[in-house]
Amino acid sequence: MVMNTKNVLKCVFAFAILPTGICTVRTPAVNPSILAQSKPIGDCQACKVFVESFKQGLERTARGKYEGGDAAWEEEKLKKSYKRSEMRLIDIQDGICKDETKHSVQCHHMAEKSEEFIEEWWAQDPDESTDLFSYICVERLKVCCPTHHYGKDCTPCPGNHENLCSGNGKCRGDGTRKGNGTCLCDAGYTGENCDHCDIDYYQMYKDSAKIVCSQCHFSCTGGCRHGTQRDCVACKAGFIFDLDEGCLDVNECEEPNKCSKDEFCMNSLGSYACTACDKSCKGCHGDGPDMCRKCAKGYSKKGEFCIQDREDEDQSEKLTHTRYMTYIGLLIATGILLPKSTSLGSLVGAMVLSYILGAEYYCMINGHTGLVDLKDFDLMQLFHY
Ligand SMILES: *[C@@H]1O[C@H](CO)[C@@H](O)[C@H](O)[C@H]1NC(C)=O
Repeated sequence: MVMNTKNVLKCVFAFAILPTGICTVRTPAVNPSILAQSKPIGDCQACKVFVESFKQGLERTARGKYEGGDAAWEEEKLKKSYKRSEMRLIDIQDGICKDETKHSVQCHHMAEKSEEFIEEWWAQDPDESTDLFSYICVERLKVCCPTHHYGKDCTPCPGNHENLCSGNGKCRGDGTRKGNGTCLCDAGYTGENCDHCDIDYYQMYKDSAKIVCSQCHFSCTGGCRHGTQRDCVACKAGFIFDLDEGCLDVNECEEPNKCSKDEFCMNSLGSYACTACDKSCKGCHGDGPDMCRKCAKGYSKKGEFCIQDREDEDQSEKLTHTRYMTYIGLLIATGILLPKSTSLGSLVGAMVLSYILGAEYYCMINGHTGLVDLKDFDLMQLFHY
């Protein structure tokens, strides 16, 4: 009974603990809402987000609130009065920034700052009201500028507005109250007007208005003429220059003793990596228990694999011994009892016999000895013959 209670407790423990363990593993470790907010945005961007949200509110409420009125004429009349009503503004403001998941904090902040200006705008004649973005973000809150204007006073970006920064960059602060109007070039371009190729890029095309630069081959360093490994000015570390082939990868793993003796070497373009051998190996030429040079202590070679020596083999043998000793003990006890009382003796004898038969049968169907044999059997050997 003590054993049973213990086992029951074990089961309860297992069922109570295991699921929580599994669930903990499955729960994501990163807060998704913080991940979504990872990139902070400037005031002008926040104002744009707010204006977009307000426009969505206008759309949402465009069909009026009194759909399904008693009569068509009544509905029409109510719709008209709702269009520029305080009530519609409140309906819009109730839903403001609600669909905004990434920048909801900044959006609400802008909504608060622009509240009085929104009311001003709302009071204008609807047919004459200026563009909401210009009115709120550029004119009133002064956080944005019109396109191709920058800085505190919305100075026009220098140069030809049709082809700012040669089309390969943007004017710093474009559309915002920030920046100094100089060019911020795209990757691969440099120069005041983004009309030169950056280091490790080469000129693919150029005319009076346009320049196109392209990246050198990844084995190059210090620039190139064209895009292949033959056009490099010099080769990156991990590559050697070949007169016919250009920059070629060096296979570092061909050099002896690149990694320590419990690691194997893996070549990669321009580099190599040392990775620890499988724990069943003592030295290896690749990953996994089938790539060992020798087996580690406690493991032995079975076919291609290094397999852990079974410790419970002894234990299972011990258990079998104990079982047989129990049978002998019981039989001896029956033997002692039998001459004293035939009826009691034969009863006990029958019980002992059925116990032994039951126990052996139980062992057989649970595959106690059989399972051990199966596990020991090397399946891989089957495929070798
Ligand atoms: C403009 O701003 C950039 C980056 O903020 C800076 O690197 C650059 O020197 C500035 N240029 C001038 C002319 O002020």
